[in-house]
Amino acid sequence: MKITICKDERSFDVAAAWRIIGQLLEKPSAVVGLSTGATTINMHDIIAAIYADYPFDVSRVTFFNVDEFTNVPADYDGSCYNTIYRHLTGPLGIPAENFIMPPTISDDMEAECRLFEQRLAARGGADLQILGIGLNGHIGINQPGAPFEGETWVSHLDTDYELRIRRETGAGDDVKLGGLTRGIKNIMQTRKLILVAKGKHKAAIIEQAILGPVTTDIPASVIQLHPNCEVLLDADAGARLVGKIS
Ligand code: GLP
Repeated sequence: MKITICKDERSFDVAAAWRIIGQLLEKPSAVVGLSTGATTINMHDIIAAIYADYPFDVSRVTFFNVDEFTNVPADYDGSCYNTIYRHLTGPLGIPAENFIMPPTISDDMEAECRLFEQRLAARGGADLQILGIGLNGHIGINQPGAPFEGETWVSHLDTDYELRIRRETGAGDDVKLGGLTRGIKNIMQTRKLILVAKGKHKAAIIEQAILGPVTTDIPASVIQLHPNCEVLLDADAGARLVGKIS
């Protein structure tokens, strides 16, 4: 596993942006999986800014996000679709058919899970998956305990996230919120993984996920088993690795 620790947050954001642009330059028809959250917003804005000044070919790329909230209105500003659209696929002018996302509302979410993976497979499968990491070690919305052989499914959310979405959408207790997420098996089948993290609050979970045992208690630890994986961090998130890795 390759580990890159950037000197500060800005250099992390820029390095991460270039990892994605690099993939697009190397393979203009790449299938690229993104991740939402505070960690990835700047990298997406930087890609959009570089594209505005120095356009590159995005006519054949396929983007998708690793997860999406379920049972929230399609126009909810904080949905993964809307977040990625606002920061990246909109500014890059990606046509709708090249931004593959499951719907937030459906009568048959299990079918949506299968369809999501089928649509990625029809494009040749995912080349790159950017992964954020939750404070409990989740990747996508695979919470602790999620099986490594699990396929794309609808998971429960962690409590903080659920409360935030209820607040932002006004969803009552009768609305069952969740998250459609690529399963750990699907994530691991991606040709290249880049796990990204920044900030002091991520240092402890990064240490556990990267240097600790591979265990379903820390879903992100599974990436230790991936043959083509990079962990890209800022100095704060990587602080507990210093002196422990060669
Ligand atoms: C959410 C997303 C995850 C992401 C995580 C990290 O849970 N569903 O895919 O990895 O947030 O969030 P942040 O970057 O805000 O710490």
